[in-house]
Amino acid sequence: MDKLIIKGGARLKGEVEIAGSKNAVLPIMAASLLSEEESVIENVPSLWDVQTMVKLLRSLGAKAILDDNGVLKIKPGASLKPFAPYKLVKTMRASVCVLGPLLARLGEAEVSLPGGCAIGPRPIDLHLKGLEALGAEIEIDHGYVRTKTRKILRGTEIYLGGGYGSSVLATDNVMMAAALASGRTVIENAACEPEVVDLAKFLKKMGAKIEGEGSPRIEIEGVKKLRGVNYRVIPDRIEAGTYMFASAITNGDILIRKMEPGHLNAVIDKLQQAGVRVEKYKNAVRVKRTGRLRPVDVTTLPYPAFPTDIQAQAMALMTVTPGISIITEKIYPNRFMHVPELGRMGAKIFLEGPSAIVHGVKKLSGAPVMASDLRASAALVLAGLVATGETEVQRIYHLDRGYENLEFKLNMLGARIRREKE
Ligand code: EPZ
Repeated sequence: MDKLIIKGGARLKGEVEIAGSKNAVLPIMAASLLSEEESVIENVPSLWDVQTMVKLLRSLGAKAILDDNGVLKIKPGASLKPFAPYKLVKTMRASVCVLGPLLARLGEAEVSLPGGCAIGPRPIDLHLKGLEALGAEIEIDHGYVRTKTRKILRGTEIYLGGGYGSSVLATDNVMMAAALASGRTVIENAACEPEVVDLAKFLKKMGAKIEGEGSPRIEIEGVKKLRGVNYRVIPDRIEAGTYMFASAITNGDILIRKMEPGHLNAVIDKLQQAGVRVEKYKNAVRVKRTGRLRPVDVTTLPYPAFPTDIQAQAMALMTVTPGISIITEKIYPNRFMHVPELGRMGAKIFLEGPSAIVHGVKKLSGAPVMASDLRASAALVLAGLVATGETEVQRIYHLDRGYENLEFKLNMLGARIRREKE
């Protein structure tokens, strides 16, 4: 296992390009199973999660080839296997996205239950509720979801809200299954995230009839067949947001290119409230610290509010912002694994239910810390960039799952990070 050693204190400056979106490409890869024909997906980030999905698609019987330029060719062919094993699903929850497409194409699917993860319990009841409403029979057996349908899936009206609001991947799964169902499906309380919109655009290019993506009501008129297509995935808004906080925390000046500023309005607003200058361009933002940081309160909520996937990075900034900031997590109330680790670096954070009360300190000091999930790991790297001395971020396979060339890109901006074997 690798670790990152970060020598703190460098001011980050320069330009960085954002890769394709992890959370858009994974469901799109699953959606390609809805057609027998080949789809070509461009702007695919080079990430472990993408490799895991490639393995899963191959294990289902599809041909999948990813080249060095981020072009992924997937040819599902006529005969797919309806089985997604635990060994692949357990390493990546997004594997559950194959459930809807397999069911719609083959009339059956057996997919391992993903289980919990470091950010807390992550049930899939809404996925199952949606597929059941479309006519699937569902059984949970020996850790697997077994689902089949006697006849073709039938469109219907489905309310997809849970205790924490809408669900991104449940909306994706139901939308994919409904694309090949008979008749009209209406998803109420659909997730509005840009990644859901990107999936809808991909499906529409394949020939699906979908309206309302990006709003809480999505309507899908089922079609008999979908075709293979060429598609370019949107930029990763979470990666872009992470570099925005990297600039802010290091008193830096970074131009973040090949991104979509409109996907990050809530993040830009918070940074501006914190006293950071953000200039928006068509496909770029420049993030520059001009003076003292100010404390801000952040509450994570579904899109277009502040994303849970940038909560930890925002917290890293608040640890060195004078005053008190309150960060409230409304999507995953236990997503605070980074708190004790930031504490080891001298941060003063008190947890109170789903809120973290952050008292800004003058400086963080480098320490060995342990990464627990993808975004928590990113927050520890950001903290390391500004800490005195060396910070050792252990177990960084989480970062490799979701950030393309993180230390390379940061080093190009002036950071001093090296990778070593643990
Ligand atoms: C997606 O996960 C993302 N993953 C997550 O990104 C992201 O944190 C999350 O959306 C929220 O934005 C991918 O896109 C691959 P949800 P997803 O269903 O769809 C509850 C990252 O770091 N819920 O929108 O699984 C759930 O527990 C990751 O890149 C149910 O109760 O998240 C949570 O409280 C981590 N029942 C809330 O809904 C369900 O059936 C929203 O989760 C499903 C979800």
